[in-house]
Amino acid sequence: MHPKLHLSPPKNWCNDPVGFIYYQGHYHLFYQYFPYGCTWGTMHWRHAMSDDLVHWEDLGIALYPSKPYDQNGCFSGSSIEVNKQLYIYYTSVQYTKAHPQNIHITASGNEFLASQSMIISSNGLHFDNIQDKKMIIPVFNDNEIGHPTHTRDPKVWKYQGTYYMVLASQYLDQNQQYQGQLLFYTSKDAINWQYKNYFRNFQLGDMWECPDIFEINQQQCLIMSPERTESHGYPSHARIATCLFKHKHCEMKITSELRFLDYGKDLYAPQTTIDKDGNRIYIGWMRMPKPVDNWCGLFTFPRVIEYKDNHIYTKPHPSIQQLFHQQRDNFDYQIPTHIYVQLNQNDFINIGGYKIKYYQCLTVDRTEVFISTNTIDLITQTPNIASCYLDIYIDQNIIEIYINDGYYVLSHIIYHLDNYIDCSTSYLLETL
Ligand code: FRU
Repeated sequence: MHPKLHLSPPKNWCNDPVGFIYYQGHYHLFYQYFPYGCTWGTMHWRHAMSDDLVHWEDLGIALYPSKPYDQNGCFSGSSIEVNKQLYIYYTSVQYTKAHPQNIHITASGNEFLASQSMIISSNGLHFDNIQDKKMIIPVFNDNEIGHPTHTRDPKVWKYQGTYYMVLASQYLDQNQQYQGQLLFYTSKDAINWQYKNYFRNFQLGDMWECPDIFEINQQQCLIMSPERTESHGYPSHARIATCLFKHKHCEMKITSELRFLDYGKDLYAPQTTIDKDGNRIYIGWMRMPKPVDNWCGLFTFPRVIEYKDNHIYTKPHPSIQQLFHQQRDNFDYQIPTHIYVQLNQNDFINIGGYKIKYYQCLTVDRTEVFISTNTIDLITQTPNIASCYLDIYIDQNIIEIYINDGYYVLSHIIYHLDNYIDCSTSYLLETL
C-alpha cells in the first residue's frame, strides 16, 4: 500500500530528492536509492518522471556506481539544462574502509572519500554510466579548502551567463571543532569549475547538508540541512532563511533566523527547482523509522515557496490543490483527503488518533498513530500564531498541515489512522 499522491519508491530504501528539474517538457525527479533493502546503503539515483507533479512514472535506476571514484555511491546532487542536454552533478563516494560484514556501509560511518562528478545525458532518459561520467572536483587534501570526506551535494544554477555551484562542507575551527561551511565554485561551460569562496562563521551543527540558494520576488533564500543541532528527536533538520548572495565574488550572508522549514521535523534534505510556470518549488524527503511492507521513505507534495511581508510561505502546488473537490461527510483514511478547519484558542481536531490542538501555537500529537519510539519526536509544535486556519492533507502514511495559508507547514509520517474525526468545531472534508 503506497500513498496515492505522494511519490514513494516502488520498493526498498529512499532518501534525498535530487536532480529535480523541468526539462524538455517533463518533470524529472531522481532520488537517493538503495536497491537491495529497506536500509541506507550504496547510493544509486532512481528516476521518476511526471507531467503534472502528481502522477509519477517510475523509470528505474539512472545513476549507479561504475567508476573507481564512485564505486561506493552516487550521493546527492542536482541537474541543469545546457544546450538541450541534461547535466547532472553528484557526489562520488569511494570507501577507504568498508564495514567488515557489509560492503554497503563503512566501518564507522566516516571512512570514505568524496569527490564531485557529473554525467551528461542527451535526453534525460538514457544515462551512460560508463561513457558519460566525469570527475569535476577531486577529493580535497587534508585542510585544503574543504574536507576530504565531508564535502558533498552540489547544487548548480545559472546567473547572467555564468554557472554557480554551492557545496556542503566542513572545516576545523581554532578550537579543533568541526563547523559547517558552504563552498562556492563558478564555471563558464558547466564542466570546468573554479573555486571562488566559502561561507563560514555561522555556528549551527557541524555539517550543512544539501544547501540550495535561490531567489523569489527579489529576495534570496537559503535552504540547508545542518547536522547535529538537536538533543532530542532527529538530531538534524531542514531549515530556511533569507540571505544575501553576491554573485560577483560569491559572498554570502544569512539575513534572518534559520528556522525549521517544516515543524513536523520529519522532513529532511529538500531540493528546489523552477516549475513550468516559473514558481520556485521544492520536494522534501520524509524520514521513516520503519518500512511499510517492502518500502521505506517518501516525498512531500511539491510545495511552492513564496516571499511576502518579510516571511517565507510554503504552499501545496496548485496541481495538488485543484485535485480535491468532492465534498464528503465520512472520513476514510485509504482515500486521499483534504480537510479545511479554522480553530479558535483551545479548539482541537482529532483525525483517527492524530491529535491537533490550537492554544497559542499549533501542537500535534501522533503517539497513537506512530510506532513506539523514544528517539523520534511524537509531539511537535509551531511557533506562536495569532490565528489558526488549517489545510490538512492526508494520504496513507503522510499528513501535511499548511497553517494560515502556508505561513508555517507541519507534516508527519504516520503508520495507521482510524476512520473517525472528532472536532470541537465544524470542518470541511474533500476527496478527489
Ligand atoms: C542527506 C545526505 C546527503 C548525502 C546523501 C547520501 O540526507 O546525507 O548529504 O549526499 O544523504 O545518501
